[in-house]
Amino acid sequence: MRILVLGGDGFCGWPSALHLSACGHHVTIVDNGVRRRIDEELGVRSLTPIRSLSERIEAWAEVTGRRIAMIDLDVARNYDELVELLAAERPDAIVHFAEQRAAPYSMKSPQHKRYTIDNNLTGTHNVLAAVVQVGVDTHLVHLGTMGVYGYESAPVDLPEGYLTVTYPDRDGNSHSREILYPTQPGSVYHLTKSLDQLLFQFYARNDGLRITDLHQGIVWGTQTEETALDVRLINRFDYDGDYGTVLNRFLAQSAIGYPLTVHGTGGQTRAFINIRDTVRCIRLAIESGSRVSGRVRVMNQITETHRISDLADLVSSITGASIERVANPRAEADKNLLSARNDHLLGLGLNPTRLETGLLEESVDIAQKYADRIDTGRVPCTSYWNETRRAAATRREEEPRPSPRSTK
Ligand SMILES: NC(=O)c1ccc[n+]([C@@H]2O[C@H](COP(=O)([O-])OP(=O)(O)OC[C@H]3O[C@@H](n4cnc5c(N)ncnc54)[C@H](O)[C@@H]3O)[C@@H](O)[C@H]2O)c1
Repeated sequence: MRILVLGGDGFCGWPSALHLSACGHHVTIVDNGVRRRIDEELGVRSLTPIRSLSERIEAWAEVTGRRIAMIDLDVARNYDELVELLAAERPDAIVHFAEQRAAPYSMKSPQHKRYTIDNNLTGTHNVLAAVVQVGVDTHLVHLGTMGVYGYESAPVDLPEGYLTVTYPDRDGNSHSREILYPTQPGSVYHLTKSLDQLLFQFYARNDGLRITDLHQGIVWGTQTEETALDVRLINRFDYDGDYGTVLNRFLAQSAIGYPLTVHGTGGQTRAFINIRDTVRCIRLAIESGSRVSGRVRVMNQITETHRISDLADLVSSITGASIERVANPRAEADKNLLSARNDHLLGLGLNPTRLETGLLEESVDIAQKYADRIDTGRVPCTSYWNETRRAAATRREEEPRPSPRSTK
């Protein structure tokens, strides 16, 4: 299949592009490099030394003999070029990773909120409008998030995107219909993913576009079969307070003897997936695209759920790291229960990678190998959801706290 991977230079996009290419698909990466510029803005870098996109692609060709094309294009701003690209490529599928994806970054300041809204919503809408304008029969696979459901301890296994509601009409007769599961976004970033869903609903109904929205859990891990083939293919590993995902942060923190920073009580339960399963899910979603017609197909791209304090305990038991509870910068419930269905992807053949020691150790090894690249000043999360959270954190800062074993 001919596949465009929008955002193919990122943490999920790069290993997905390699996996699709390894499976014989014809892959073109579209990326404007903004994620690398955000590293510069934040004064941080990937824990792993990632090569430039062109070096990565050259290395892939050298190691496997497979070619990936690359196009520098901003999907939110270069609409005409996007239309030209679709007309020239006529892809069978488009995977859309090209969004600002960090909740803390989206909450840093009014500028960051506005950038996240502008980039994510305009980008998504441009893709949809361009597909209609060009008239190409393609299947759009979008990366959404489990965060659209909110974290409210609903007494149900979260369904995959839709909820059946029953309501009485004015004569008292009962009716049922399926609606998008009511969203409860916990940040401006999550808000963009909630709004993306409405764009998809409209374009599927109005223009008959074939769309799959993957509600992905928090991704952990670094390497996949393909990125491990050569050091020049290594995947990004974010450990900083804005972009680091919770488990990867714990693994990096433990590698340098920094306490595992648990936000609040640690009673928050979240859904997780290993990066190796992410790339398989993307392929399964694409290869089953002919089954998508009519309403948007929503699949929960998760393999398990865990309480944050349990994850900290697990990492601590493997690595001996200490645990520090810090004031929660986010406005969220102290604790919640979470259980969600993932029948769609299991039905397509996903064989989940469970959180097990082997893979955790692999990530700790990587973190230890590159520990000298960690800037401990970038580890704490300093994005606060509101002034109350900032004030609570400032009060905690004034209390004595254990210092990291090594600092840079
Ligand atoms: N990483 C996770 O844990 C996670 C969890 C759930 C969902 N997701 C979703 O998966 C997708 C990919 O996440 P990621 O972790 O790989 O993020 P990432 O920031 O590492 O990668 C995103 C890529 O998109 C590019 N990009 C952003 N805006 C663009 C634009 N306007 N035009 C062209 N390129 C653009 C960036 O340069 C970057 O290479 C995101 O949509 C994210 O919301 C990620």
